[in-house]
Formats: sequence, structure tokens, C-alpha cells
Amino acid sequence: MESQRILVIGGTGAQGTAVVKSLLEAEQSYKIRILTRNPADASTLAKFPTESGVELVKGSFMDMKSVESALQDCYGVFVNTDGFTVKEADEIWAAMRIYEIAKASSTLKHFVWSGLDYYLKLGKYDQKYASYHINAKARVNDWLRAQESSHENHGVAWTILNTGPYMEMLYGGVFIPQIEADGTRIYSLPLGRGKLPLIALPDLGFFARIIFENRSEWSGQTLGVVSQFVTGDEIAETLTKVTGIPAVYKPCSGEEWVDQVPWASGPVAKMDPSGPTHRDNWLMWWRAYEDDLLLPERDMVRLKALNPDLRTLETWMKETNYDGQTRPLLRGHEF
Ligand SMILES: NC(=O)c1ccc[n+]([C@@H]2O[C@H](COP(=O)([O-])OP(=O)(O)OC[C@H]3O[C@@H](n4cnc5c(N)ncnc54)[C@H](OP(=O)(O)O)[C@@H]3O)[C@@H](O)[C@H]2O)c1
Repeated sequence: MESQRILVIGGTGAQGTAVVKSLLEAEQSYKIRILTRNPADASTLAKFPTESGVELVKGSFMDMKSVESALQDCYGVFVNTDGFTVKEADEIWAAMRIYEIAKASSTLKHFVWSGLDYYLKLGKYDQKYASYHINAKARVNDWLRAQESSHENHGVAWTILNTGPYMEMLYGGVFIPQIEADGTRIYSLPLGRGKLPLIALPDLGFFARIIFENRSEWSGQTLGVVSQFVTGDEIAETLTKVTGIPAVYKPCSGEEWVDQVPWASGPVAKMDPSGPTHRDNWLMWWRAYEDDLLLPERDMVRLKALNPDLRTLETWMKETNYDGQTRPLLRGHEF
């Protein structure tokens, strides 16, 4: 059988790279194409050298001509638009147009949308959960569910993969601890007694792969993923257990947290400089976890059955030699 080509939108980013890596490891061989604004970027070429076989095509998910051209001869598409580049309305519009263009393709059979849970709806529309970079993707979920999804060989099937905060944000994102002079790691997070629904990126890549491998089973379905729900205390205790390094969880208020974030006053979406700020966005984001909105949305029994090697925080820390130090992760943001 000729190998199927999958376009990964967002494939150069933290999430997309994990998806590409997992697809390249699949028993069934896939041809991978990535849509990127800059195929000549040195870090992208370092991740995907010519010998990796990954094809880099120039374009933007906001430029539908480039999307149409990138979709040519593709069997599947994984779509992770970036809510830290474009504003909410543009992210929703882009997702809808990409789907409409995918529907018109003669080769495309599987549209996999990287979604997020509808925090605002789960929180009964209390505006304290209106985090901008979350709810745009969730509104797309609801719109997609109103579309027909093909179970036959012809036609396009859609699947929603609802993700959550990456476990890797413990070293390259908003969960990085402060390191005291004596080496103690301080996790000062506005999480209260809530649990973070952490997904390790290799687990996320695994779930994306099984969705592509089993199109008819996943047609019209939503899969909400997580590796482990963890409290702030569990993060600190696990680090100490694995490394012997002292660590403490110190709950703080949302305001205290955003006050120490140097980029808080900047725009959430780079292309919307006068739009909502990170400050407002993250205050609303943390509330969802403090209030455990996602706990009922994940079926751990099913996730472990689908992926018997699902990581725990402990196995992930061992696998990644995690010690609380900062490492690069996101393409669009440095911490
Ligand atoms: N951080 C988390 O824990 C987390 C968890 C779940 C979901 N997310 C969501 O994931 C998205 C960001 O992806 P990421 O986490 O992989 O971040 P990232 O490492 O910063 O990557 C951003 C990706 O978006 C691509 N991109 C941005 N604007 C583009 C455009 N106009 N056209 C084509 N590609 C574009 C970039 O590609 P080029 O630069 O190569 O063009 C890059 O691949 C956000 O919407 C975020 O809400 C993040």
C-alpha cells in the first residue's frame, strides 16, 4: 500500500513536533508535510533535516491559498492553529476555512483537530473562565460536531483531540519553578488544591497517531487526553522523590503569579498587539484548574487501555532527567 501523506499544521511547534515524531514511528509509514511560515528557519531544519524525509512547505494557516496548496495529495491533516499568534476570532475563522477547504479536496479523508475543552461552557459561562487561547479552539469543537463525519472510504472524517497543558511546561513554560540559592525548587502557582491535567507530549503524539491509524473508529469522535492529574504538592514531592532535590509547592493568588511574569502586560496574540493581555488571559486560565473543571472530562481507564504506557509524572521526570531547570520548548515563546 502506498504510504499516506499527512499535513501537520503547527508541525514545527512543541505539539506538532511530537505528533510528527510519533507518526514517523508508526508501523504504517506516513509521508509528512509541515506548513510553516519559514521553511528555511535554522531550528526547524535542525529538527527536520532533509534525511528525516519531512517536507517543509511555506505558508500560513491564515493564508488559505497556501493551505489549499499544502493539502494537495494529502490523506490526512492534523491542525494545531496557534492562539498565541492570532486572536480568537481569527483562530476560529481559520479553523473553519481549513476544514471547508479540506472537504473540497479529492484526496483528504481525515481531519484531526487539536482542540481544547470548552472551559467557559464547563464553568456555566462564568466569565472568570473566558481564557482567550482556550475557548477559541473549544468553539471550533462545537462547530465541527455539527458537521457530518464520514465512516466510509470516501468523504472526510473529523476527529477532535482535546489536549491540555503539556507536562513539558514544567521545564519550558508556565510551571517552571524558582530555584533558591540552596537549590530548593519553589513551585509558586495559583492552583490552590486543584489538579493540573498534564499531558506529556509523547503521549499526545501517541494518541494523534492511533487516531490516524484507526480512522473509522475515531470518525466523529472526541478524545480528551491527559497523562496524569497532579496537585502542586505532588509536583514538588515527585521531583524530590526522583532527584533528591528539595522542592516545595507554595500556592499563591493569580494576581501574585501574573505580577511576577515579565510578559504579563503584552498581548496574548502577537498579531493582535492592542488586544487582550496575557495578564487577563492567564488569570482566567488558572481558575479552570484551581476549580478542577477538567477532572470529569477525562476517562483515565479508557486512556490507559488505549495507551498502556501512558506516562505518570514520575516516569516522565525519570525519562526526561527533569530537575526543575529551564529548557527550550515552545517555538513562539521563551521562558
Ligand atoms: N503550551 C501548552 O501547554 C499547550 C497545551 C495545549 C494546547 N496548546 C495550544 O497549542 C498552540 C501552540 O502550539 P505549540 O504549543 O506547539 O506552540 P509553539 O511551540 O510556540 O508552536 C507554534 C506553532 O504554530 C505555528 N504557527 C503560528 N502561526 C502560524 C501561521 N500563521 N501559519 C502556520 N503556522 C503557524 C508555528 O509554525 P511556524 O513558526 O513554523 O510558522 C509553530 O509550529 C496554541 O494554540 C496553544 O493554545 C498549548
